[in-house]
Parts: sequence; structure tokens; C-alpha cells
Amino acid sequence: MGTTNRILIPIALLIFIGGAFTVAFSERPWAPRADVEQPIPFSHRVHAGINKIPCQYCHEYARVSATSGVPPVARCVGCHGSSLLGGIEPITQPWTDTHQPPFEIRWNRVYTLPDFVKFVHKPHIWAGVACQECHGPVETMDRVVPVHEINMGFCLKCHEQRGATQDCFVCHH
Ligand code: HEC
Ligand code: HEC
Ligand code: HEC
Ligand code: HEC
Ligand code: HEC
Repeated sequence: MGTTNRILIPIALLIFIGGAFTVAFSERPWAPRADVEQPIPFSHRVHAGINKIPCQYCHEYARVSATSGVPPVARCVGCHGSSLLGGIEPITQPWTDTHQPPFEIRWNRVYTLPDFVKFVHKPHIWAGVACQECHGPVETMDRVVPVHEINMGFCLKCHEQRGATQDCFVCHH
């Protein structure tokens, strides 16, 4: 009995710790996803790259709030409303078979964080942190894919370098 326990308990512990690590570091369901397909092949390379449309023209909330937000269809129509850029058809067709507005495109999320983390865009934008430092060279991407592993180490490394907060309760509720 005693001998069996001396062997089994460490093994059980190893399995348990291994399991905890697996859950903590690989199954992170909130990790940015590289396999997200969008309902429309919207290209950042074409818009932000070739046509040099500023990030914040479309993601206008980044500097004033927690979220950057994804532009409403109305913002697309501002440019695609006339037939000059091929009209609104290429934008609406793929996901609606009727043409009645207001249809919002249901974009799928690439970046997410767990509920126990509080992230706000605003202070980063005001401190001059470029979008690309976290999201990579989006203006070269036809489809947004994460470049950096966004985890606590990623946040803290930069916070340390720039003298930003390391207080647990500023990032965690
Ligand atoms: C013409 C409008 C437009 C411009 C300009 C634009 N974006 Fe976007 N952005 C979108 C749309 C629409 C989506 C949602 C579809 C997608 O993910 O491609 C999006 C999605 C994103 C996402 C993924 C959000 C998520 O988690 O799902 C990031 C990150 C992003 N944009 C960053 C940028 C950056 C950085 C720039 C400037 C280099 C930029 N965007 C310029 C329209 C724009
Ligand atoms: C500031 C003007 C502007 C805005 C806003 C804008 N676009 Fe565009 N879009 C363009 C230009 C310029 C092109 C390139 C047209 C060309 O090369 O013929 C383009 C091209 C496209 C294409 C064709 C892509 C390709 O591979 O050539 C699609 C699809 C598209 N836009 C969707 C959208 C959607 C969806 C939105 C809103 C989230 C949007 N656009 C907002 C200017 C804009
Ligand atoms: C310091 C890192 C950092 C910077 C700088 C940053 N982002 Fe983000 N962004 C994130 C994180 C982390 C998320 C996921 C947030 C969440 O799920 O709560 C995110 C989410 C997004 C999203 C998804 C929708 C939303 O609002 O949550 C878009 C779009 C986006 N960012 C665009 C931008 C743009 C455009 C810029 C520059 C103007 C920018 N980001 C700058 C880290 C950053
Ligand atoms: C590339 C650098 C960089 C990265 C990466 C980064 N931050 Fe920041 N963060 C900053 C800077 C700079 C500030 C602004 C400090 C100031 O204004 O004093 C800031 C401020 C903040 C604030 C506001 C702090 C306050 O005192 O109100 C929060 C919250 C925050 N960051 C959370 C995060 C989280 C969560 C992540 C990871 C998902 C992250 N940051 C990643 C540079 C970064
Ligand atoms: C700058 C923002 C930031 C600060 C400061 C911060 N955290 Fe985190 N923390 C995060 C992010 C982002 C995650 C999500 C990690 C992931 O996705 O793997 C996280 C995850 C965690 C987790 C879950 C386990 C893990 O690693 O995924 C724990 C526990 C944790 N933090 C504790 C702390 C403690 C304790 C402190 C203070 C010493 C602290 N955090 C300070 C951003 C921060």
C-alpha cells in the first residue's frame, strides 16, 4: 500500500500538473485565431496598403474607447456606393440574396481575450503604440491573421519596457 502510493501519487500529480499546463497554455479558447474566414474577402492589403486608407478611418473608436470596432456597412458605402469602385454589389452579394438595407456584415472575430482580462485600446493609441506592434503588418494582409501570441507575457514585456502599469488589478477585474 505505502509503496504503491509512493509511486502512484507522484504520477497522479505529474498527470494533473501536465493537464493544468495543457489547459493553461494550449487550449486557450480565446487565443487569436489564424483560421478565421470572413463572409466577404475584404482585403486590408487593398484598402490600408495599396489605397493607403488610414486604419482609424475605419476603426474610428480605437482612440476613444476600449474597442476599435469594425466599420458598419455605411462606411463601405461611402466609397462603394457609386459605381466607380464597382458599386455596392460586390460588398452585399456574397452574403445576402435580397438587396434591402440595412444589412450588417457579420464579420468573424480574429482577436479575443478571456473575460478576466481588461484590455482598452485608447491609452495605447494615445501613448503612440502603433496598431502594428500588436496586430502585425495588417496593411500587407489579404486576410487578417495574428502575428504575435497575445498572452500576459506579451503585455508585460512591453509594459516593462515603456514603464506602463504592471498592477494585476489594472488588467484583471
Ligand atoms: C476600409 C476599412 C478598413 C481599413 C482602412 C482598415 N480596416 Fe481593419 N478591418 C476592417 C474590416 C471590415 C474588418 C473585419 C473583417 C476582417 O477581419 O478582415 C477589419 C478587421 C481588422 C482586424 C481584426 C479584428 C478582429 O479581431 O476580428 C484588425 C486587427 C484590423 N482590422 C486592424 C487594422 C489596421 C491595423 C489597419 C491599418 C493598417 C486597418 N485595420 C485598416 C476594415 C478596415
Ligand atoms: C475610403 C474608401 C473605401 C472604403 C471606406 C471601403 N473601400 Fe473597398 N475598396 C476601395 C478601393 C479604392 C478599392 C480598390 C478598387 C480597385 O482596385 O478597383 C476597394 C476594393 C474593394 C473590394 C475588392 C477587393 C479586391 O480584391 O480588389 C472589396 C470586396 C471591398 N473593397 C469591400 C469593402 C468593404 C466590405 C468595405 C467596408 C468595410 C470597404 N470596401 C470600404 C475603397 C474603399
Ligand atoms: C497594445 C496592443 C494593441 C494595439 C496597439 C492595438 N490593438 Fe487592436 N486589439 C488588441 C487586443 C488584445 C484585442 C482583443 C481585445 C478583446 O478581445 O477584448 C484587439 C482587438 C482589435 C479589434 C477587434 C474589435 C475590437 O475592437 O475589439 C480591432 C478591429 C482592432 N483591435 C484594431 C486595432 C487598430 C486599428 C489599432 C490601431 C489604431 C489597434 N487595434 C491597436 C491589441 C492591440
Ligand atoms: C507594445 C507595447 C504594449 C503592449 C504589447 C501592451 N501595452 Fe498596455 N500599455 C502600453 C502603454 C505605452 C500604455 C500607456 C501607459 C501610460 O499612458 O502611462 C499602456 C496602458 C495600458 C492600460 C491602461 C493602464 C492605466 O494605467 O490605466 C491597460 C489596462 C493596458 N495597457 C493593458 C494591456 C493589455 C491587457 C495588454 C496585452 C493584451 C497590453 N496592455 C499590451 C503599452 C503596451
Ligand atoms: C498588462 C496586463 C496584465 C497585467 C499587469 C497582469 N496580467 Fe495576468 N494576464 C494578462 C493577459 C492578457 C492574460 C491572458 C493570458 C492568455 O491569454 O494566455 C493573463 C492571464 C493571467 C492568468 C491566467 C493564467 C495564464 O497565464 O494564462 C493569471 C493567473 C494571471 N494573469 C495573474 C496575474 C497576476 C497575479 C498579475 C499581477 C502580478 C497579473 N496577472 C498582471 C494580462 C495582464
